Amino acid sequence: MSTDKRTIDWYNDNAEGYTKHVQITTESIYHSYYEKPAMYSLLPDIKNKKVISLGCGSGEDSEYLRSLETSQSVGVDISEKLIDIAKSNHPKCDFRVMDMEKINFPDSSFDFAYSSLAIHYIENWTNTFKEVYRILKPNSYFLFSCGHPLRSSMTASQNETEKIRQLAIIKNKITEETTIVGNYLDRNKLDTKLGEKSFVTTYHKSIGEIVGEIKEAGFLIEDFVEPKPLPRMESISPNDFKRLNKIPEFMIFKLKKI
Ligand SMILES: C[S@@+](CC[C@H](N)C(=O)[O-])C[C@H]1O[C@@H](n2cnc3c(N)ncnc32)[C@H](O)[C@@H]1O
Repeated sequence: MSTDKRTIDWYNDNAEGYTKHVQITTESIYHSYYEKPAMYSLLPDIKNKKVISLGCGSGEDSEYLRSLETSQSVGVDISEKLIDIAKSNHPKCDFRVMDMEKINFPDSSFDFAYSSLAIHYIENWTNTFKEVYRILKPNSYFLFSCGHPLRSSMTASQNETEKIRQLAIIKNKITEETTIVGNYLDRNKLDTKLGEKSFVTTYHKSIGEIVGEIKEAGFLIEDFVEPKPLPRMESISPNDFKRLNKIPEFMIFKLKKI
């Protein structure tokens, strides 16, 4: 598996706290007022269909998909603790501990695949795309969200009063010497802060590299969305609202198996 051990450990060690966080909509504002509304608006018709959520966490999305009258809503996640919570909170869904790089379901067994903010924990996405392609029936969709590489290409620095994130070209007017801050094009392993002082591993890759991995697996890109936050976010967190209206944090692909 290419998800880092410290990432899996973090989700196991913080499974209860993570679940509470996503359940309180005013706390998990990036979910409730930004990513989930955009993902849900892109769902195909899944009534009476068999669906799977990959990296399902504590199962909230699986429950939402089930509420749309699916015939079966399956959720898989690499974290045993999150799957235990998902099973107990959402008993009408079907949850399994599974690595989304090695999906233990037969070929052509699902009508729709969904994955929210999980694939960027994996280094090489081609295996996952190929696995999802394999388990989907022809003409089915795979909808997934992930970190936006514009955001993860930026380099962080700080001075006494400011925290700064930049992707910049700085050219000295006299010497013409050019300094590049940040890196968009190269794949990069990142230390991503989750919580007060813990880090997990995420992977930065350019949109071009992601499109290459999608094509290698055989999918067609049906849609690509860089969401904006819902207006309701403004009163809850004006700074996040201002930022997300200018600089994307996440992006969404809707892929089709033909
Ligand atoms: C940010 S959480 C998102 C959870 C859920 N999709 C949601 O939106 O609340 C990322 C999830 O991806 C899971 N994950 C990371 N790598 C994975 C892998 N290789 N296979 C399956 N799940 C994985 C983590 O355990 C975690 O539950």
